[in-house]
Amino acid sequence: MQDRVFAGIRATGRQHIGNYLGAIQNFVALQDRFECIYSIVDLHSLTTLTDTDKLRFNVRETAMDLLAAGIRPEESILYVQSHVPEVSELHLLLSMVTPNGMLLRVPTFKEKVRSQPDNVNYGLVGYPVLQTADIVLYRANKVPVGEDQLPHLELAREIVRRFNRHFGDIFPEPEAELTNAPMVLGFDNRKMSKSYGNAVEMAATPEETAKAVRGAITDPQRVRRNDPGRPEVCNVYALHGAFGPERQPEIYEQCTTAGIGCVDCKGQLADSINETFAPIRARRAELAAHPEQVDEVLADGAMRARVIAREVLAEVKDAVGLPPAPA
Ligand code: TRP
Repeated sequence: MQDRVFAGIRATGRQHIGNYLGAIQNFVALQDRFECIYSIVDLHSLTTLTDTDKLRFNVRETAMDLLAAGIRPEESILYVQSHVPEVSELHLLLSMVTPNGMLLRVPTFKEKVRSQPDNVNYGLVGYPVLQTADIVLYRANKVPVGEDQLPHLELAREIVRRFNRHFGDIFPEPEAELTNAPMVLGFDNRKMSKSYGNAVEMAATPEETAKAVRGAITDPQRVRRNDPGRPEVCNVYALHGAFGPERQPEIYEQCTTAGIGCVDCKGQLADSINETFAPIRARRAELAAHPEQVDEVLADGAMRARVIAREVLAEVKDAVGLPPAPA
């Protein structure tokens, strides 16, 4: 069987530089080695309900970031999850072999029970089942994910094994294709996250980038300009490694000898980030000027995805023993 990559990207809108380092960059690179299918998972976004008024807007913003970053829609399939409704039907069928206990033990579920106690809905419990349906609807066998998604992938594998045991060898067991992204934090040293406001968007202007970087926490023991700094505890230094690795040795030397202060160091980081994203930002501006082209790409992606999805779903329905639909 030929390898096929599948990844879902939550429709959170404009992606930040942490999303780029941790996921998007890898999605782009995988296109050189595999057939890739990327889905903007708007149905998954409905499980939290708070941001659905912006959902349509966020889907397109996400799509523009992905295309600008280098997803090639002539080769890869990029589509919106809800445009391929077969996934919802498969989700239901997979739910029949998924034990409740396993879903209730998933760390992200338990986290949501804590963070949104007033909205512990059925969809939230089924989130990983929908994620499994995403993957196996295309019989994808490689899933690029970060560490935090490993429990979801383990569950997907378990659902596949149970399904295959009941109904025959229908799906391949998907494997994690772990991203070896550098671990960087947000500018306040917490996990980089849109909701913390501690990141900068890929599509930010150079000025916005410089301003955000100026607010970054550095070595807390470096109080005065002439104090030597400790790069090993400094997130700004780690970010240099991600965006301008060629600058890093010089930064190390200058920081530890107090040759430069944190302000200069942050200025150089902002320059590196701006250099990295300059071509991406230029492509994104072109796309933003032609939203109809983005919609066309997504429509074409959905059409190509559905060709595969229909065929797999038909096979699955037959295997589970549903009566053939009347013609
Ligand atoms: N749960 C993933 C996340 O939070 C998004 C996702 C949905 C996904 N479906 C997927 C990832 C299928 C990989 C494969 O990032």
